[in-house]
Amino acid sequence: MASEQDRMERIVALAKRRGFIFPGSEIYGGLNGFWDYGPLGVELKRNIKDAWWHDCVTTREDMVGVDAAIIMNPKVWEASGHVSGFTDPRVDCKECKARFRLDELPDPKRIAAAIDDVWTDRMTAAEAMQHHGLGGVYVERRLKAAERGDARHALGEALEQRCPSCGGDLTEPRQFNLMLPTSIGAMEDSSSRAYLRPETAQGIFVNYKNVLDTSRMKVPFGIAQIGKAFRNEINPRNYTFRSREFEQMEVEFFCHPSEADKWYAAWRQARFDWYVGLGLKSDRLRLRDHEKDELAHYAKACADIEYAFPFGTAELEGVANRTDFDLKQHQEFSGRDMTYYDDETKERFLPYVIEPSGGVDRALLAFLCEAYDEDEAPDENGKAQKRTVLRFHPRLAPIKVAVFPLVKKDGMPEKARAIYEECRKHLAAFYDEKGAVGRRYRRQDEAGTPFCVTVDGQTLEDGTVTIRDRDTMKQERIPGDGVLEYVREHLHI
Ligand code: GAP
Repeated sequence: MASEQDRMERIVALAKRRGFIFPGSEIYGGLNGFWDYGPLGVELKRNIKDAWWHDCVTTREDMVGVDAAIIMNPKVWEASGHVSGFTDPRVDCKECKARFRLDELPDPKRIAAAIDDVWTDRMTAAEAMQHHGLGGVYVERRLKAAERGDARHALGEALEQRCPSCGGDLTEPRQFNLMLPTSIGAMEDSSSRAYLRPETAQGIFVNYKNVLDTSRMKVPFGIAQIGKAFRNEINPRNYTFRSREFEQMEVEFFCHPSEADKWYAAWRQARFDWYVGLGLKSDRLRLRDHEKDELAHYAKACADIEYAFPFGTAELEGVANRTDFDLKQHQEFSGRDMTYYDDETKERFLPYVIEPSGGVDRALLAFLCEAYDEDEAPDENGKAQKRTVLRFHPRLAPIKVAVFPLVKKDGMPEKARAIYEECRKHLAAFYDEKGAVGRRYRRQDEAGTPFCVTVDGQTLEDGTVTIRDRDTMKQERIPGDGVLEYVREHLHI
């Protein structure tokens, strides 16, 4: 297949064309860092969240859920450390005013190595950009100059850090808080200042006592939440990967400190296996343990579940042993007792917390990238044509079965509609009678629909229909009244 950059462009184009993901407020030119999900995207996203809730909450005796408010008492964010510490160092370009995270600026040494590779004809400018992980118009311009043999423009200000967009002067790094502020009520002063939550986790911590008091849960147990989170990211990028509004799926699992290592290991593995089970089977998925010097000061251990996206390898989810840091902070700032009393051992203690924290949008993007494939399929005349197919896991596929009449006459639409109506009561189904049947198959391949059913001339004689498998493209004849059963059995849903 094409280069990774090309592959990403095709995925983005397909997602737009088929109604998975649109730029937010597109008719007004969009808004950087905000995305909207279309009819297929919203089904895919819901299926991811449902699968997560089913596997992390419904099927576990030791888990319950909450749905907390997005705007919380601002003291929450003082206790959690977000007011003082949730910052990224950033620099501004003095000329074009673009803003960058310090750690995202291209390393001047890498630019020099790339120039050297182009200069000595080992690579083209485009290859060197990709090979050295470089981006930005300014860097590209310098590499193109090297390609032309234009030494003065290629070397530019040699090893000095410049604006990657325009090559302008940069300011010294400054700290920038990532929380999105808002205000509550009619007055806009410091007393009305609040924040859109930057993570769902704190909605769980502040309700930990409420849950203990109102449910039968006993430590060890966990609380789950899925919901929106907001961060004023300096440089939203890589499609939906780094957005300013996104959704998180988080668990805070409370346990005795002496059992924290055991629970950490169990969640670390369970969360990795969850992604594999839903189709991230390739070696693009990996589990990376943090080095000691990477750990947050309160964390005892942390592992990232990472995926090799076409634009680079990056985090889908983090699993951390957060010790008793959060409960201790909230105990201190709220004055409420957060300890747990164990009736059996007669011990009172502050539980440790294991936190698997994932992003819905990032999971969706990984499932989309993994599912994307191109192969060949015969057209109406038996000629091989390029086919784009999304090979989603059946649990995630937005539509499970599509039903077509071969032609729009001879009672075929009525028969096809009856099968569709029956399926639709139980699972996501789609009816289509427009255009050549081959094109209808292709449209469903692009939507990732595992099965297509066609009512044809033979159906009118013996009641059988053809059912086509998305991945093998093989067709089978089965009884028309057995479609629902067949789909359920083959998809294990
Ligand atoms: N409570 C811990 C926490 O929020 P995090 O690593 O900052 O940890 C957890 O975020 C997950 O949320 C990430 O692994 C990622 O999947 C998702 N996430 C974080 N920032 C994001 C952003 N700007 N856009 C999309 N997803 C994001």
